[in-house]
Amino acid sequence: MKNFTQLLLGGLLAGTCKAYPGPLECPACYSLGPIDPVKNDFQSKCATIAPKLQIANATVYFSQYVAAGTNLSLPENNVTCGQSSQVVLTDMCRIALSVVTSNRSGISMEAWLPANWTGRFLSTGNGGLAGCIQYGDMAYSASLGFATVGANNGHNGTSGGAFYNNPEVVADFAYRSVHTGVLVGKNITKTLYGKPHSKSYYLGCSTGGREGFKSAQEFPEDFDGIVAGAPAFAFNNLTSWSGHFYPLTGPPGSPAFVPTAMWPVIHQDILRQCDMLDGYADGILEDPSLCKYDSKGLICNATLTTNCLTPTQSQTVQKIFSPLLTTDGSLVYPRIQPGSELADAYIIYGGQSFPYSDDWFRYAIYNDPSWDPAKLNTTDYANAARINPSNIETWKGDLSGVQKRGAKILHYHGLMDAIISSENSPRYYEHVRDTMHLSPAQLDSFYRFFRISGMDHCRGGLGAGVIGQGLDSVNSYEPRQNILTAMVEWVEKGMAPETLVGTRYVNGTKNLGVDYLRAHCKYPKRNIFKGGDAKKIESWKCVD
Ligand SMILES: *[C@@H]1O[C@H](CO)[C@@H](O)[C@H](O)[C@H]1NC(C)=O
Ligand SMILES: *[C@@H]1O[C@H](CO)[C@@H](O)[C@H](O)[C@H]1NC(C)=O
Ligand SMILES: *[C@@H]1O[C@H](CO)[C@@H](O)[C@H](O)[C@H]1NC(C)=O
Ligand SMILES: *[C@@H]1O[C@H](CO)[C@@H](O)[C@H](O)[C@H]1NC(C)=O
Ligand SMILES: *[C@@H]1O[C@H](CO)[C@@H](O)[C@H](O)[C@H]1NC(C)=O
Ligand SMILES: *[C@@H]1O[C@H](CO)[C@@H](O)[C@H](O)[C@H]1NC(C)=O
Ligand SMILES: *[C@@H]1O[C@H](CO)[C@@H](O)[C@H](O)[C@H]1NC(C)=O
Ligand SMILES: *[C@@H]1O[C@H](CO)[C@@H](O)[C@H](O)[C@H]1NC(C)=O
Ligand SMILES: *[C@@H]1O[C@H](CO)[C@@H](O)[C@H](O)[C@H]1NC(C)=O
Ligand SMILES: *[C@@H]1O[C@H](CO)[C@@H](O)[C@H](O)[C@H]1NC(C)=O
Ligand SMILES: *[C@@H]1O[C@H](CO)[C@@H](O)[C@H](O)[C@H]1NC(C)=O
Repeated sequence: MKNFTQLLLGGLLAGTCKAYPGPLECPACYSLGPIDPVKNDFQSKCATIAPKLQIANATVYFSQYVAAGTNLSLPENNVTCGQSSQVVLTDMCRIALSVVTSNRSGISMEAWLPANWTGRFLSTGNGGLAGCIQYGDMAYSASLGFATVGANNGHNGTSGGAFYNNPEVVADFAYRSVHTGVLVGKNITKTLYGKPHSKSYYLGCSTGGREGFKSAQEFPEDFDGIVAGAPAFAFNNLTSWSGHFYPLTGPPGSPAFVPTAMWPVIHQDILRQCDMLDGYADGILEDPSLCKYDSKGLICNATLTTNCLTPTQSQTVQKIFSPLLTTDGSLVYPRIQPGSELADAYIIYGGQSFPYSDDWFRYAIYNDPSWDPAKLNTTDYANAARINPSNIETWKGDLSGVQKRGAKILHYHGLMDAIISSENSPRYYEHVRDTMHLSPAQLDSFYRFFRISGMDHCRGGLGAGVIGQGLDSVNSYEPRQNILTAMVEWVEKGMAPETLVGTRYVNGTKNLGVDYLRAHCKYPKRNIFKGGDAKKIESWKCVD
């Protein structure tokens, strides 16, 4: 009841209250303009839907009509999620509920159902270890006419503390939250609109990318089209890798720690060695996997006395740009791609432990809050990979479930990703190729992977990283330039993207206008400069 009241009041107080048609008291609510019969019918359906929802294990908190333009206040959203409001872009029905998933776990979720429905359904995903509904993604996809759901991944807030001694909460995080949200969301969609959805989609990045692949691997019937970015798959090994930088460097001032001020120098040295590998020096590596960086030239000597590295620091740099291996030499996780140093100087190379890795080992792997991340070693990598709670690794190479039912996957990864190495994505693509014994041309019929040069983790970066992957990253809805509408076109018209055109804004700022567009290639192709004006798409080409 507390939830109900607080959520409801939050929505009403901040909203453009006038459009609210519901049964609750709201003195300012009834100053409606001329009644639009279509809209009004939708509003009353929305207001009265709650008792009609007969969903096992679910408790509906409220349903509420929200008009386009409303700045929705989100007072119940955990403060660590960092979002207290979301502007809603289309007239819609907002439904909030909780669903019990076991005798000691459950999810909270919302459905945002647009008045102008296209018949399509879409589930959003999550990020990090977080139990945070991705309201921005929900607003984006609802505005495009998808009946949209988002769930809290089984706990609230960004920490992994809720995993402690509760494998059911971990199970929600590993697979059950998204899957439950999809089953419930499709049911709600049918009940509200009076007919089932036509096609079902997924949009997510990072942990959301992993969740997309978890659906593809285990619940292929859930979606007709999955857009999965920068996936956090090989999840246990990823957390080992993210955690290993701190024991490698030690805190700032340690002999092996590379001073933060050196990373811009190293970045320039990397560009000097590798920027021309794609034929054009613009600060963007079109294929960083080709860059075998050597930091020896930055070691201090009699003539090089400032902006230089000690031999130990240079060794740290070489280790950072090498794959993480077990003691017997087998791969735990690929190296980070060169190019993301400017951001990583403050993240994984910053001389602190990595919060997601700390929480994963403490609360999901060892159930020991006193576990010390400074001591992380190969024994821990092996333990995490072996314990693999609820098979969160998400590394199944057999996607025949997706292939057989004609569903599609669009996978993307930014090549300036500072959090999840972009080199792990081709590794998965090749794992699928080898597991299914399919050539890239055969994989093309259901699974396409695009490397997005210059894109940081899921968005941002210094290159043409705007591909319609989220509300803050839309230059166009034209399928060539928008990965979500491209997916719809592939699923519904059979027209699959050969490239994804990304936008670079002037100084990365939308209101300064477009600087250039670049067509990103479908793996295993890579982009090279042909000559001419580098800011023109046709000056580049995808080669094998
Ligand atoms: C929704 O799910 C319940 C069971 O949880 C089922 O009884 C009901 O028929 C479903 N409704 C629709 C519209 O699918
Ligand atoms: C929405 O409201 C919040 C305060 O609740 C405010 O900080 C934010 O700027 C508003 N957003 C817009 C776009 O008006
Ligand atoms: C998460 O937050 C929602 C909204 O406040 C609340 O209803 C739910 O009980 C919370 N869940 C947990 C597991 O704390
Ligand atoms: C309801 O939740 C229980 C666990 O608490 C589970 O066993 C059961 O399958 C759930 N029912 C449905 C229809 O999901
Ligand atoms: C919760 O369910 C598990 C089996 O899924 C059972 O072993 C356990 O006893 C149950 N706990 C409670 C408190 O009902
Ligand atoms: C409804 O959505 C379609 C696209 O699906 C759009 O063309 C149309 O303008 C929308 N209508 C309204 C009233 O928003
Ligand atoms: C908010 O999230 C933090 C971090 O995940 C958690 O410790 C806290 O209990 C949450 N607060 C509420 C009210 O759920
Ligand atoms: C110092 O290092 C630079 C860069 O590697 C090199 O060009 C130079 O020859 C070295 N000088 C001496 C004295 O070793
Ligand atoms: C890893 O660390 C643990 C204790 O922190 C230790 O028991 C174990 O022997 C170490 N393993 C290796 C391979 O060094
Ligand atoms: C994860 O690391 C272990 C070694 O700790 C290795 O055996 C396993 O193959 C790795 N899994 C993946 C998916 O890379
Ligand atoms: C873009 O940024 C650079 C420096 O970062 C600045 O010199 C330039 O004026 C900016 N351009 C615009 C159009 O703001």
